[in-house]
Amino acid sequence: MKNVVLIGFMGTGKTSAGKLLAARLGSPFIDTDMKIEQENHLTIPEIFAAHGEAYFRDLETAAVKMAAQGSNLVISTGGGVVLRGENMAALRRNGWIITLTASVDCIVARTSRDNERPLLLAEDRQKMVETLLAQRASLYADADFIIDTGTLTPLQVVEEILKFLKRKGDPRA
Ligand code: S3P
Repeated sequence: MKNVVLIGFMGTGKTSAGKLLAARLGSPFIDTDMKIEQENHLTIPEIFAAHGEAYFRDLETAAVKMAAQGSNLVISTGGGVVLRGENMAALRRNGWIITLTASVDCIVARTSRDNERPLLLAEDRQKMVETLLAQRASLYADADFIIDTGTLTPLQVVEEILKFLKRKGDPRA
């Protein structure tokens, strides 16, 4: 059975929807950021601070490739997973790629009290979100299904994913 892989920018709801979806499908849930933190005994901000982004990206690729070997999983990824083609190639091999999107305003609002995301610790968060989103837009667009989560609850996002899986003939949906 194929994996269901959630990709998308920070604050689009990948983790919340992923956990609910996994429970609904009866599938194991893997959050690659959580895996990285557990395996390295460091938080994501600590990894960025101690070793830098490039080092984090290598850990991310290793975690993604490991997760992609499984099947019947719900995999929630970090927002930057799309930056490396090898990550996406591994995930695509046995997975539906589902992008969660939201507007800049929505992302800024959802992440406003959040200091766990090193890339958003900029003076002007709005500008930073706009810049990163513009850089990544075409990468997030390359998906099997895209859901704008701006006005949806995590449960409604799950319903949309289930409808997609049903259309694809997935017996779990
Ligand atoms: C990142 C997103 C974060 C985390 C890291 C980098 C990114 O994950 O992997 O801070 O480059 O967009 P979330 O999308 O789960 O916040």
